[in-house]
Amino acid sequence: MKYGHFDDATREYVITNPQTPFPWINYLGNKDFFSLISNTAGGYSFYKDAKFRRLNRYRYNNVPMDDGGRYFYINDGENIWNPGWKPSKTELDSYECRHGMNYTKIKGEKNGISAEVLFFVPLNTWAEIQKVTLSNTSNEVKKFKFFSYNEWALWNAASDMENFQRNFSTGEVEIEDSVIYHKTEYRERRNHFAYYSVNTNIQGFDTDRETFVGLYNSHANPQVVSAGKPTNSHAHGWSPIASHYIEVELQPGESKDLVFVLGYVENDEDDKWESKGIINKTKAKEVLERFNTAQKVDAALAELKAYWDTILNVFTIDSGDDRLDRQVNIWNQYQCMITFNFSRSASYFESGIGRGMGFRDSNQDLLGFVHQAPKRARQRVIDIASTQFLDGGCYHQYQPLTKRGNNEVGGGFNDDPMWLILGVTSYIKESGDFTILDEMVPFDNDESLAQSMFNHLTISFNHVINNLGPNKLPLIGRADWNDCLNLNCFSNDPNESFQTTENNSEGSKAESLMIAGLFVYYGRDYIELCKLLGKSEEAARAQNEVDTMVKSIKENGWDGQWFLRAYDFYGNKIGSKENEEGKIFIESNGWCTMAKIGNDEGMCKKALDAVKERLDTKYGIVLNNPAYTKYHIEMGEISTYPAGYKENAGIFCHNNPWIMIGETELGRGDIAYDYYTKISPAFIEDIQELHKTEPYVYSQMIAGKDAFKPGEAKNSWLTGTAAWNYAAITQHILGIKPAFKGLEINPCIPKKWDGFKVKRKFRGYTLNIDVKNPNHVSKGVKQISIDDNVIIGDLIPVLEKNKEYAVKVVMG
Ligand code: BGC
Ligand code: NOJ
Repeated sequence: MKYGHFDDATREYVITNPQTPFPWINYLGNKDFFSLISNTAGGYSFYKDAKFRRLNRYRYNNVPMDDGGRYFYINDGENIWNPGWKPSKTELDSYECRHGMNYTKIKGEKNGISAEVLFFVPLNTWAEIQKVTLSNTSNEVKKFKFFSYNEWALWNAASDMENFQRNFSTGEVEIEDSVIYHKTEYRERRNHFAYYSVNTNIQGFDTDRETFVGLYNSHANPQVVSAGKPTNSHAHGWSPIASHYIEVELQPGESKDLVFVLGYVENDEDDKWESKGIINKTKAKEVLERFNTAQKVDAALAELKAYWDTILNVFTIDSGDDRLDRQVNIWNQYQCMITFNFSRSASYFESGIGRGMGFRDSNQDLLGFVHQAPKRARQRVIDIASTQFLDGGCYHQYQPLTKRGNNEVGGGFNDDPMWLILGVTSYIKESGDFTILDEMVPFDNDESLAQSMFNHLTISFNHVINNLGPNKLPLIGRADWNDCLNLNCFSNDPNESFQTTENNSEGSKAESLMIAGLFVYYGRDYIELCKLLGKSEEAARAQNEVDTMVKSIKENGWDGQWFLRAYDFYGNKIGSKENEEGKIFIESNGWCTMAKIGNDEGMCKKALDAVKERLDTKYGIVLNNPAYTKYHIEMGEISTYPAGYKENAGIFCHNNPWIMIGETELGRGDIAYDYYTKISPAFIEDIQELHKTEPYVYSQMIAGKDAFKPGEAKNSWLTGTAAWNYAAITQHILGIKPAFKGLEINPCIPKKWDGFKVKRKFRGYTLNIDVKNPNHVSKGVKQISIDDNVIIGDLIPVLEKNKEYAVKVVMG
């Protein structure tokens, strides 16, 4: 069963049945002000931080699911219904939801009335716009009652779920004309409030939830809507809401637009009040003025669309396969923007309360984002580096509002520093801007400790070699990329989190082959950078360290058929044929083959063959095998998950691309692409019922072969999967890869492909790349020409800005 389809021309996913297997959401907003919106209009909005500046209440893990959002109710005398079907769930004559690039349109029709709502956050605006178009599609006059509904909660979202003795007494609103202001706590330490308005006269309102909904009713049948009569209630404490009441009359064929604005304002300290106790609304009124007509709203939407045109024009493919084209040109890039904005903080699987911006996560996200908006990427990587410690270690997360390292989550994840090298080098390779290396960047947010960004990279590199274990391999610390492989944790207490418990690394021999491979891979980028900067001594030193690491991996990290995963606290092997469970893992085999360690000795081929044989499944590559079936105190969280889920033998889509990239290093384009299509959303659209999560974005995890329901996905949207798959397909399979000195072209594709075309904007000029594969090979470039001039090698050097070039590539 399918619930929708792609519309590539409009870059939308069109949902035609509201009863999707899980709420299928979209993100509105691009910078500062954001909203999550499901296909039935559930969700919430926030300014920068979903924990401290959430405007409205959202109840995660609720029954029914996804209850609460921005709801419009129509009472036509016979029926009460919502354009997005929920929450009344009155059967509609037609329903459609179109999720586009940072906007969503939901349209419902019932008994000759059609209601379409366009939701978006205009560029540079701290507000969500909801343009409602009401039309009479019948032959008779239609009179009906229209209600809006929004439930405020502009305070700490965590305390919203626990501190009722306080919160039930603090709520305050102001009502002026058609605007309802939520000003709770504004008087003390807050300089911010929220508002909800409509650009027409209202015939009534409600601001007290229990009065509007009724204590014994639910969102499905609010008392006021059923009665068809607002009460003009004024909230004093308890739960403030904002509901407008509008009487509508439409002639046959007539349409009417209403513009609702849900916004957020911050005022300067000396500008907070209009008069005693009355908030200064000037800034809100400015925004309302900007969007007080449907025409102004349409113009703002056109601007948003133009913005996305620019972003998505940087890399476009014409491959002849719609599925690949829509992944590469639209949805994968869109998801990369979303992960850039949110890291792992707010989705339908991340509460927006628990997790800040991840040091590792946000660096990796740049891989898929940097070409879209290099300036924003530059600032991000500086923000991230500013939280690093002087010894190279890092806070694992930081809060977006303060940009300061998050003490509660701690640090000690020994892979973290290496990702900074990835973040910075990705930025330089895309932009050609080496000046970032001279930026003075603080340590631990302390300006007085600032050093150049280049020094941050040296310190990151050194952090690995300063923390080696008995096999001369990197000590794992709290954990590496697999933050459930907690080798120093030994937790016996069910009440503690593996992620934050005090680790016991004193005397530990726990080493990671994943960090070892990562170090070799990005260590080489560091070396190249040193050479380009004329730092030959540092380059030689680093080369020596990388060579030593390669040697240690070959000597102490090879298990005969594949790379070991780790050594535990006591120095015992993990991910070895000697183990009963968890004999083989993706991470080390991905990174070591990406870095081509032992390639000449045949290690890479053997390792990837073993991955194929033991980890590959119909739905993707499982993380490890056999799955753990009992708790191993010396391994931690990984062994707490049932077999086939999450890090315990789930298909962890984030790390599948490491194997794809390893395969492209071997030149096996057919296998690499097969892995790519197994988890790529557009290619598995037909199994959307089983897959369950949104068919237009990647999920972090798909249940593995040992799970109850293999193929079922969870944790959609906020995952490194987006950036890594984007890198795998564009840079390694299609083989168009930014480099310090230009753009490399070296595809590794299925043999049967005749070729493909890519338009790539790069450092101010445009390349029209035409790849031909006349001899049907997977890898190997016979000739490249730029405007018919043949070049030597596969690097397109830096060219003159503002020009277009024809690049012809012949494989063979
Ligand atoms: C999950 C990981 C996640 C970590 C940090 C673990 O429970 O399995 O995927 O990264 O928590 O929140
Ligand atoms: C999710 C985290 O966000 C990511 O950083 C981590 O590496 C994976 N889990 C694997 O455990």
